Formats: sequence, C-alpha cells, structure tokens
Amino acid sequence: MCADWSPPEFDTGTPHSARIYDWWAGGKDNFPVDREAAQRVAEARPGVLATVRENRAFLRRGVDAMAREHGIRQFLDIGTGLPSPGSTHEIAQAVDPSSRVLYVDNDPMVLAHARARLTDLGDRTVGYLDADLRSPESILASAELKAALDLDRPVALMLLAILHFVPDDDEARGIVRRLMDALAPGSMLMISLWAEDRPPAEQVEATERYADTGIPVRMRTPAECAGFFEGLEPLDPGLVPVSQWRRTAADGAAPSLADVALYGGVARKPGGPKAGRAAAAQDAEK
Ligand SMILES: C[S@@+](CC[C@H](N)C(=O)[O-])C[C@H]1O[C@@H](n2cnc3c(N)ncnc32)[C@H](O)[C@@H]1O
Repeated sequence: MCADWSPPEFDTGTPHSARIYDWWAGGKDNFPVDREAAQRVAEARPGVLATVRENRAFLRRGVDAMAREHGIRQFLDIGTGLPSPGSTHEIAQAVDPSSRVLYVDNDPMVLAHARARLTDLGDRTVGYLDADLRSPESILASAELKAALDLDRPVALMLLAILHFVPDDDEARGIVRRLMDALAPGSMLMISLWAEDRPPAEQVEATERYADTGIPVRMRTPAECAGFFEGLEPLDPGLVPVSQWRRTAADGAAPSLADVALYGGVARKPGGPKAGRAAAAQDAEK
C-alpha cells in the first residue's frame, strides 16, 4: 500500500453508477441506495441483467481479438467498474503476460478496490488512475498513463458502458476524438453504448428512472452510435448488439435480442503495422 494513501470516503446516501452496475452484475459492492436505484431501472427494463452479462462477455471476446488478431499489448480501459471475473488485464495477459493495462474510473469505491487489488498483485503491468472521462487531457497528461503506456505504440482505448454518462453528443464525440488523436496508428477503439432502439418504450422509461437517481444518462440512436467510429476501420461484424459481436459456442445460448440494450464494436485507427504484425514488431523490440 502507498504510504501517502488513505481510504477514500464513500457517499453511501447517493447512488453511484459503478455500484448500480455492480448490483445488476450480481456483485456485493453496493449500498441500499444503489440497490434501490438498480431495482427501479430493472423493473422498467428487466433485460438490463442480460445486458450486463453480455457486455462482460463482449469485453472478453473484444480484448482477446484485439490481442490475438491485432497484436495489441496496451489497453486504456476508462470506466473500469468494480472487480468482476474476466477483467481486461486477465484476458490480455492470458495472451501475453507482458500486456499493459491502465484502468481509469472516477468512483471512490472502484479506486479503493483498485488500490487493494493492484497492491495484492504487486504487478507493474497494471495501473490505475482516478480521473474523469470528461477531462481527457488530464488522463493523457497523467503520470500514471506515462508510466503504464507507450503512446508511440498502438493502444486499445476501451469505453464500455460509459459514454451514456456523457449525454451531450458533441462533448462525447469530442472526448473520443481527443483520446484517439493521441494514440498511434494501428490503435483500436472498443465501445459499448446504450442504444435507444432496444426496444424504445422500455428504454425511455429505464432512462428516466436512471435520471431520477441524479445521474444524467442518454441513450443514442444507431446512427449516433456509429458516429463514434468516424475515420476508423470497424472490425467485422461492425457495431451490433453486444451479444452478437463474434459470439461463440462457448458463450452459451444467446438471450433474446430485445433484452440486450447495448451496441458494441471495435474499430482500428488507420495506418501502422497491419493486424498480427504489430505484436511481432513489439516482441522483436523487447
Ligand atoms: C456501467 S459501468 C461499466 C463498467 C465496465 N466498463 C463494463 O462495461 O463492464 C460504468 C463505469 O464508468 C464509471 N464512470 C462513469 N462516469 C465516469 C466518468 N465521467 N469518468 C470516469 N469514470 C466514469 C463508473 O464509475 C463505472 O465504474
């Protein structure tokens, strides 16, 4: 444990998005106020539980594909969430143990878990930054990012189930653009987004209930979701419900599409070494 670190204070009277999501995922890192908010949204949108499960499976398949097929060895995962099996560093380091991950979140409970976990791991390939997505410059300029990632080499920027907390479309697109502009050619963008066509009536109710908790959220049309990939090369099968992105037999039976509220996809920044050669080039330089 760092000598200058003291545990963050938790606001247990106000719901937090990380702890609401944790309850939907079946976790225990949440307080009564979070459970109440999570239940209210789930009543309006029962598919949220399948959505969360499928989003985590999408994370696993996406990180594995970026690592194996595109040689990505560096990951910037913003909106980390509370610990659950199959985290980004576990998937990436199963492909290459030297893979590096910087997690970023602005929730104090996520910070507390990260401190404990990363210290336990004693692992310098995994870093954590307490920062806000809405301030991309502070993320890019941080000592944590500089220590964890080499921006002259491809990085996978991961924004899973977080962009709906930036309701303004121009602001959200600007954040993604500023982050991607800072990354080397051959970098990847992996996103999952709350989409409004899945199905609309329930989603509107669920969004309103979420907003009632004091956390503004915005779901996006499929066209607005696709806008995040502008200027990038989407990998097959493009932006689709997360349960459909390269699903394999190991994922088990697919839930009803009507239950899956998130679109997901992965895209590549043009230029740089082509798929598969990036890792070989990086390995050769080690
Ligand atoms: C719905 S969870 C998603 C967790 C994980 N990415 C996943 O897909 O399983 C959203 C996470 O984003 C974090 N978050 C929300 N707004 C944020 C912001 N402006 N800056 C940094 N993190 C934020 C929350 O604390 C939470 O941990």
